[in-house]
Amino acid sequence: MSSPASPSVPSITLANGVTMPAIGLGTWPMTDGEAEVAVAHALRIGWRLVDTAENYANEVGVGRGIRASGVDRSEVFVTTKFNKKWHSVDGVRQACEASLARLGLDYVDLLLVHWPNPDQDRYVEAVEGLFRVLDAGLVRAVGVSNFKVAHLERLFARGLVPHVNQIQLDPLHRRDDVAALAKTKGMVIESWSPSGRAGALLGEPAVLAAAVAHGRTPAQIVLRWHVEHGWVPLPKSSDPTRQAQNLAVFDFALTAAERAALDGLDRPDPAMYDSDVFGH
Ligand code: A2P
Repeated sequence: MSSPASPSVPSITLANGVTMPAIGLGTWPMTDGEAEVAVAHALRIGWRLVDTAENYANEVGVGRGIRASGVDRSEVFVTTKFNKKWHSVDGVRQACEASLARLGLDYVDLLLVHWPNPDQDRYVEAVEGLFRVLDAGLVRAVGVSNFKVAHLERLFARGLVPHVNQIQLDPLHRRDDVAALAKTKGMVIESWSPSGRAGALLGEPAVLAAAVAHGRTPAQIVLRWHVEHGWVPLPKSSDPTRQAQNLAVFDFALTAAERAALDGLDRPDPAMYDSDVFGH
């Protein structure tokens, strides 16, 4: 089956020259069955980056969805992540091979350390393991997820610069310290829960005002905010209409005032996951 004409998604270039779509489909908390349907539909309408993880327990469904879509594997950028039990050089290789088997693929485009788990104190070895599977050709790029400034600095001090850091980031949680540090090393930031976790963000007056001004949905305004900052948002949606809306954020621009208004929503959130204490 050939893929129908679909909007082309812009790409960004990682520090090793690999290109990555500028927006991607999140898949948590889809089941295998849900992921198969959602991924197949998303790829058919033009999505080109799919984000999964060992911990989501849906890699089998994601792989099935890719094959069901009819889109050529080479056109899809597949990301997965591994849990803390694999934080060693040999463990990362095993984790990678296990993910590839579940996905039914012979390489992934991006493999991430899911959480730093500093209590375990083995994330440096995990990143060393990532560079081994990169050298072995099992992955095209490597990265970390939920790494804070102290975790990144420890990697940098060892000369380890992953290509990506995927973090919780949205206008209420701007993460300026992490984003600025990553930028100094050419790391790309991906945003999980880009539209805010509890939905409150989509009702913020600054978001609603921009939505009215542009004739867009609040989610489109927030996703556009990520894109304009150079961050790669990973909105999850199983709904065909919202999947289409979330992709349609490359044909309009926020004004400087609108962007500043969204920037101004940043505030402390005591309920936010702290990757110094939470992780799996
Ligand atoms: P649905 O799959 O029904 O679209 P998170 O980013 O924390 O994973 O949350 C994603 C949530 O946001 C899901 O419940 C998803 O529901 C919903 N969602 C995704 N896209 C949109 C959108 N454009 N507008 C409103 N809600 C959305």
